[in-house]
Amino acid sequence: MDQKKIKLSIKNISHGYIVNDDVFQAASNISLDVYDNEFLVILGPGHCGKTVLLNIISGLEEAEVGQKEIDGQPFKGSDKRIGMVFQELALMPWKTVMANTEFGPQMAGMSKQQRRKIAQKYIDLVGLHGFEKSYPNKLSGGMKQRVGIARAYTNEPEILLMDEPFGQLDAQTRYAMEEEIQRIWQQEKRTIIFVTNNIEEAIYLGDRIVLLSKCPAQIKEIYDVNLPRPRDSVSPEFLGLRKQISDNTDLPL
Ligand SMILES: Nc1ncnc2c1ncn2[C@@H]1O[C@H](COP(=O)(O)OP(=O)(O)OP(=O)(O)O)[C@@H](O)[C@H]1O
Ligand SMILES: [Mg+2]
Repeated sequence: MDQKKIKLSIKNISHGYIVNDDVFQAASNISLDVYDNEFLVILGPGHCGKTVLLNIISGLEEAEVGQKEIDGQPFKGSDKRIGMVFQELALMPWKTVMANTEFGPQMAGMSKQQRRKIAQKYIDLVGLHGFEKSYPNKLSGGMKQRVGIARAYTNEPEILLMDEPFGQLDAQTRYAMEEEIQRIWQQEKRTIIFVTNNIEEAIYLGDRIVLLSKCPAQIKEIYDVNLPRPRDSVSPEFLGLRKQISDNTDLPL
């Protein structure tokens, strides 16, 4: 990365839930700086608190303890500078690709002409040109995820959170989408926080990898991935890092 300006900071984030009259801790004292235009991967075992952490960053949930900052300025709750691609794809089945993609700016009151122009730019960027009038049930899993990405970009956020976006795809489509998200990010740089439980995916995509512990999520280690892109997933360096991370990864609860 050329510049190391801090875009997002979270400080001392802790969060728990009351379950059967007991406190169940999901995240414990997480502090992290994310650089401008960085592709940061958060890697952690199943049910460790990854979605809870993203929801806190996006403002869908309020952390019990901790602070958040964008460009050094504290903020609370949700913020239009942050966009999200959800783990469970939340496309509206009764709306076309275009209508799903332009929904955010439409809700914000943007004129039809203006929002169409922006939505079209990102539909093209994700490779769905020609599918604007299709409904989600006519699209493959990978294409639906492309709509989810186009929709998030169309809100023009500065920070994009992606919660295991390729977790439900078959292996071949997943590899293709890993290449695609890298191409999209290189073409339209944003600060991306990408959550996965897949070590190869983390090393393939991340500028850095934040490894979380089992629940309650804590940061175990942060890895710099100094490998040229596109990465060769069978190079000795890739496999060495894979082993190092794998040896340090907790089993899920
Ligand atoms: N609203 C809630 N009430 C109680 N417990 C919750 C709530 N939300 C999350 N949890 C618990 O917090 C823990 C972390 O959940 P989270 O969804 O963040 O896991 P995850 O790392 O995203 O898992 P996965 O890889 O399966 O998506 C889980 O044990 C979950 O049951
Ligand atoms: Mg999750």
